[in-house]
Amino acid sequence: MAGGATLLCALLLLVQAGAGLVITVQSNSSSDFLVGRNINLSISYTSSQNASVSWSKDNVLLVTWYNVIINQAPAYQGRLDITGKGSLVISNSTTNDAGNYTVRVESFADTTGTMMFPVKIYDPVTNASVSQSPSSADESTTIVNLSCSAASGGVTYTWTKEGKSLPGNSSYVILDGGRTLQINAPNRTHNGNYTCNVSNPVDWEIATRTLNISYSDRPSSLSAGAIAGIVIGSVAGAILLIGLIILVIFCIRKRRKGKKEKNPGNLHKNALRTISGTTLSPDDPAYFTMNNIMYRNSSISMGSYIMNSGDNTSEYLRNPSPNPPPSEPKVKHATQV
Ligand SMILES: *[C@@H]1O[C@H](CO)[C@@H](O)[C@H](O)[C@H]1NC(C)=O
Ligand SMILES: *[C@@H]1O[C@H](CO)[C@@H](O)[C@H](O)[C@H]1NC(C)=O
Ligand SMILES: *[C@@H]1O[C@H](CO)[C@@H](O)[C@H](O)[C@H]1NC(C)=O
Ligand SMILES: *[C@@H]1O[C@H](CO)[C@@H](O)[C@H](O)[C@H]1NC(C)=O
Ligand SMILES: *[C@@H]1O[C@H](CO)[C@@H](O)[C@H](O)[C@H]1NC(C)=O
Ligand SMILES: *[C@@H]1O[C@H](CO)[C@@H](O)[C@H](O)[C@H]1NC(C)=O
Ligand SMILES: *[C@@H]1O[C@H](CO)[C@@H](O)[C@H](O)[C@H]1NC(C)=O
Ligand SMILES: *[C@@H]1O[C@H](CO)[C@@H](O)[C@H](O)[C@H]1NC(C)=O
Repeated sequence: MAGGATLLCALLLLVQAGAGLVITVQSNSSSDFLVGRNINLSISYTSSQNASVSWSKDNVLLVTWYNVIINQAPAYQGRLDITGKGSLVISNSTTNDAGNYTVRVESFADTTGTMMFPVKIYDPVTNASVSQSPSSADESTTIVNLSCSAASGGVTYTWTKEGKSLPGNSSYVILDGGRTLQINAPNRTHNGNYTCNVSNPVDWEIATRTLNISYSDRPSSLSAGAIAGIVIGSVAGAILLIGLIILVIFCIRKRRKGKKEKNPGNLHKNALRTISGTTLSPDDPAYFTMNNIMYRNSSISMGSYIMNSGDNTSEYLRNPSPNPPPSEPKVKHATQV
């Protein structure tokens, strides 16, 4: 029995020695770090024996650890430490600490395990701001740009309007790697608060700007009916105005003429031309009417003229009677005007 137990033990030892573990390194660490903070690359693994852990950066050895730090690169004196079973901590990081970090975990009995960390060091995001170009715009502006910037740390730029993501299929166009939000043919519906989130994997900052596309409520274009109405109205107005001017000129001329008629210098001539129905008053005792023509007394000479005896009218010559002609004188009426 004892020999059998010994054999079993020997066999077990043989199996263990011959079938050493494949060391698998695992980590839940991010490779992204903020400048000035600690770089912390934590690892876990299983091995059949105590393993030694070595860290290198870009193929340059930083540190070797076997329960304690055995050696480390002089440049990292005071900044570098190993915690747990081989996790790396580098304090007060700078951008120079970025690079590919590789860990090797090895033991005599096991197959060596490795893992690589592409470490990136980011500046904190500072002074994020949004600017607008052109700085003022209305609904006739063809393009408005909202541009996001930060003094440091900007890697990713995302835009929201009133806290909601922008509709993907619209007048919004993202340019310059997200820094520029271009709005084509902006109108009042685009007004609102636009927020830019400037971020990197370890830091972010937001900046907000209010877009104000000004507009007037006056309709930008008139209907055909309105245009026709305006044209017709204008023409009618012009015609009315011209008519009014002609009427005024006519009235003025008429009034001047009326004044002239009252002018005594021209009265004689005018009186002869005056037909009944004119403005001359028939009640005026200075006027009288004959054959529907109005005359003025003072300007007309009227009377009876006695013919003399030496009258040689044909009537007198054809009647050579001995009797003297009747003594009654021949009267001839004449009107001199
Ligand atoms: C990573 O895992 C360790 C334990 O293995 C745990 O203490 C630590 O909180 C974890 N870190 C993260 C960021 O999950
Ligand atoms: C690391 O930064 C801390 C403050 O965060 C400071 O107190 C310390 O002196 C710095 N160490 C080195 C080595 O620069
Ligand atoms: C950030 O902005 C502040 C004031 O707004 C200014 O004093 C500071 O210099 C700016 N920082 C950088 C890095 O531009
Ligand atoms: C808007 O931004 C784009 C891209 O940077 C640029 O080409 C364009 O000239 C800008 N337009 C205005 C009005 O600023
Ligand atoms: C919206 O996007 C779809 C495809 O993504 C495209 O077919 C369509 O023309 C777009 N519509 C407008 C108004 O841009
Ligand atoms: C404003 O612009 C959007 C997108 O270009 C368009 O769908 C909408 O009809 C416009 N609204 C007005 C009032 O012009
Ligand atoms: C800004 O973006 C970062 C990275 O995506 C995110 O973690 C953060 O919550 C965002 N901030 C806001 C206010 O949306
Ligand atoms: C937008 O601008 C117009 C003038 O350009 C101004 O009258 C109006 O108050 C502004 N609106 C807002 C919300 O700032």
